[in-house]
Amino acid sequence: MDVTFSPVDRLQGDLAVPGDKSVSHRALILAAMAAGRCVVRGAAPGADVASTAASLARLGVDLPAGPVPRLLSVEGPGWQVAQKADLDAGNSGTTMRLLTGALAGRPGRFVLSGDASLSTRVASPLRRMGASVSLSGAGRPPIHVEGRPLRGIAYDMPIASAQVKGAVLLAGLQAEGPTRVVEPGISRDHTERLLVWLGLPVSIAPGTVTLAAGEHLPLPAFELDVPGDFSSAAFWVVAATLAPDSEVCIEGVGVNPSRTGLLEILASMGAEVEVIPEAAEPELIGSLRVRSAGLRGVRVSGGVVARTIDELSLVAVAATQAEGVTTIRDAAELRVKESDRLAVLACGLRELGADVEEAPDGLSVRGPTPLHGGRVESAGDHRMAMAFAVAAMIASGPVTVGGWEGTAISYPGFLDDLARLAS
Ligand code: S3P
Repeated sequence: MDVTFSPVDRLQGDLAVPGDKSVSHRALILAAMAAGRCVVRGAAPGADVASTAASLARLGVDLPAGPVPRLLSVEGPGWQVAQKADLDAGNSGTTMRLLTGALAGRPGRFVLSGDASLSTRVASPLRRMGASVSLSGAGRPPIHVEGRPLRGIAYDMPIASAQVKGAVLLAGLQAEGPTRVVEPGISRDHTERLLVWLGLPVSIAPGTVTLAAGEHLPLPAFELDVPGDFSSAAFWVVAATLAPDSEVCIEGVGVNPSRTGLLEILASMGAEVEVIPEAAEPELIGSLRVRSAGLRGVRVSGGVVARTIDELSLVAVAATQAEGVTTIRDAAELRVKESDRLAVLACGLRELGADVEEAPDGLSVRGPTPLHGGRVESAGDHRMAMAFAVAAMIASGPVTVGGWEGTAISYPGFLDDLARLAS
């Protein structure tokens, strides 16, 4: 589906974004591992979390069909679920990876399918734990999991990845002995935070998380308020920075520091974003107040990349309007997301007149360049479509974004929120 955007004069107003997708996936899986009634308020409304909910429902968890409701009450079965099931992760890598880990120690035979964009990455550590995980060609789904008794391992992750870390920890909940994950950088820490909040013996040091040995299942029942998704708020943070005369306040956003690399990068570029703290348990929550600002180019590499993994596309959009060169490196992981994001971004931003060079592990963007109207393709990738929508807001003419339907994955109400802020 094509959507055509006209440039905005300015963005003004208050907004609440959809619930955090990463926290929502984990909340549903942990509820399925809990014994007793669990309540999850404000889960992400998009198709990705619906894939996790539908997969859990196929395993026999009492979850409603269709989009995940804002107020979800579920009877946790303590992970006493079906012993045979075919599950569909759709476009959701997080569903695929977390459920593979969660099912690896659950007796039974499970098949996890998903679309072609999903590569798995979790087979190797799970096999070391004793799991039976087999994949079709090129490490892609469907994945066949035969649940087995597991043993804890110490896993040195080659690439910082919250999905892989989460899969190993969920398997570790069912393993004999301690489970430790060591990361080369800091990826989002929602799994370990939620486990600590539930009272599990998890210790967290920078780059290392350890789950002590023990009988961890069933987990205790819980009630959780899901924060607004920082990755969805990020579109408005960058849009309001770039659009003239803008001031936007986004309330109730998760500002877990393992997710907010974008704010560090924007601060170094000269942006004006204020974080007003609201709550701290189990996730840090705050309001983000953003005003238009002029930007300068920066270098983005090393540890901040993992903390900005879903927002680097927005750094590239911002860089088109910054004075000088912005260099993004150490970001080869972007090539194996829902699309090859480095290639899709470079191509789309050039279509709009930006000066972008692609490197194997990043992009260099020289600014400022006025963006003009045109047509860009999002390759069915929700984050690419919305990043191009932000570019379109500051272009001099209409921009048509192809593949807009992908935005149903994480932010079905994006166009309504745009209409509210631009009016
Ligand atoms: C996610 C982790 C990130 C991110 C993805 C969601 C998660 O991937 O890109 O959108 O919920 O664990 P990594 O596994 O590369 O950290």
